[in-house]
Amino acid sequence: MGNILLLYGSMTGHTKFVANLVRNIFKKAGKEVDMQNALDFKDYDLKTYDYLLMGCSTWDEGKLQVHFEQYYENLVASKPKLGGKKFALFGCGDSGYVHYGEGLDLIQKGFTDMGAAEIQDKLLIDGDPESNDNIDKISDWAAKLLESVK
Ligand SMILES: Cc1cc2nc3c(=O)[nH]c(=O)nc-3n(C[C@H](O)[C@H](O)[C@H](O)COP(=O)(O)O)c2cc1C
Repeated sequence: MGNILLLYGSMTGHTKFVANLVRNIFKKAGKEVDMQNALDFKDYDLKTYDYLLMGCSTWDEGKLQVHFEQYYENLVASKPKLGGKKFALFGCGDSGYVHYGEGLDLIQKGFTDMGAAEIQDKLLIDGDPESNDNIDKISDWAAKLLESVK
């Protein structure tokens, strides 16, 4: 299974696209990633993972994507001990909204409160993740993250 979890919640496939690209970049570098959709992921202690890569889009005035939100609420309720674990966040949003990308801020606070340490600035993608500029942005972010993953 590997010690890297990549969990994403995505409504229209944008954050899923980012997740796939990150996973593929890791794979090329020889890092196995356990990629999971929040829709059907039910591990609430995360014991087997050292690295938690969390991908979530923002909806409805700063809320988490609904599948990720459901998982996240269950996770928080089960009070996992995440001390020693490292996390990084990515997701899609739209800068036309007042609460641009704010879902990621909620996750950042929650994971920090549960004891995990953020190892890289979040990646927030505005609009279509498949544009050349955004593919470059995602690729650079993943390459930089690889440097922090043992
Ligand atoms: C009804 C609706 C509400 C949205 N609310 C927000 C928002 O509050 N903040 C934001 O940054 N993006 C918002 N978005 C934009 C989505 O986050 C964006 O389309 C994103 O690419 C969707 O990614 P996903 O397909 O991975 O879910 C909203 C989109 C819709 C249709």
